[in-house]
Amino acid sequence: MLKKYKEIKNRYNIGCRFLNDAYNIESNIKSQEEINKNPFRSEIINFLLDSLDKSDTNYLEIGVRNPEDNFNKIISTKKVSVDPGIEFKTNPVDYKMTSDDFFNQIKNGKILRRDIKFDVIFIDGLHLADQVERDINNSLDYIQDYGFIVLHDCNPPTEFHSRESFSYYMSPAKYYWNGTTWKAFFKFRQNRELYSCCINSDWGVGVISKNIDLGKPTTILNPFYEYHVLDKNRNDSLNLIDYEVFKCKIRKD
Ligand SMILES: C[S@@+](CC[C@H](N)C(=O)[O-])C[C@H]1O[C@@H](n2cnc3c(N)ncnc32)[C@H](O)[C@@H]1O
Repeated sequence: MLKKYKEIKNRYNIGCRFLNDAYNIESNIKSQEEINKNPFRSEIINFLLDSLDKSDTNYLEIGVRNPEDNFNKIISTKKVSVDPGIEFKTNPVDYKMTSDDFFNQIKNGKILRRDIKFDVIFIDGLHLADQVERDINNSLDYIQDYGFIVLHDCNPPTEFHSRESFSYYMSPAKYYWNGTTWKAFFKFRQNRELYSCCINSDWGVGVISKNIDLGKPTTILNPFYEYHVLDKNRNDSLNLIDYEVFKCKIRKD
């Protein structure tokens, strides 16, 4: 009986320690702050499509999950969706495959057209840096020169949100997960031939353009892609900007 009591007390103490832990409290606050930010990705993507002032637009979404969350909200004459169906079993998309397979099949002339160009490509598939880097490189081949590559989850509010393992829910970030997308975005922030910025909303909506000046490349050095270096130099590393400022940049151009 005493042993059982001690075991329950021990578990209770561990629970209290977890709940009162400073990292846990900070993560909860920062998750809540991020959830309260506006606008969401769909509004930003629709703004960009609309800014092109075209009667026909072509939109590609990599990683769709439940289309009700974003894909179905996007206003574009043509829309293409790609997802292997890992997180949403019904997976009602056009191409039930990984983004790598999708781009390979276009290159090999098996689907769509080899010379297809999209006006906006939204990258929101596997949130690990090497995959996101491949998604950006492939997207650069299939984006119109005046088009936009948009990336979700570029601004993780804590190191726990940017963990590699999606399913470790015991972390202070719980089930919130931005993965290591920021590392791929940061790599492209150093590219002098592209423009990029990150809208400070909805976990960081990164935008890359070949032609529209969205700001200068970063000169921040972070050779080991350390989270604490990102955190200390967040504004410059990501070119973090408010949505209203972003809209002015697009309209001015
Ligand atoms: C964060 S969800 C997408 C959310 C959606 N874009 C939205 O805005 O609500 C990530 C999706 O990426 C898909 N995914 C995982 N690995 C992928 C890959 N290699 N290529 C394409 N999609 C992938 C998952 O199946 C999942 O449905």
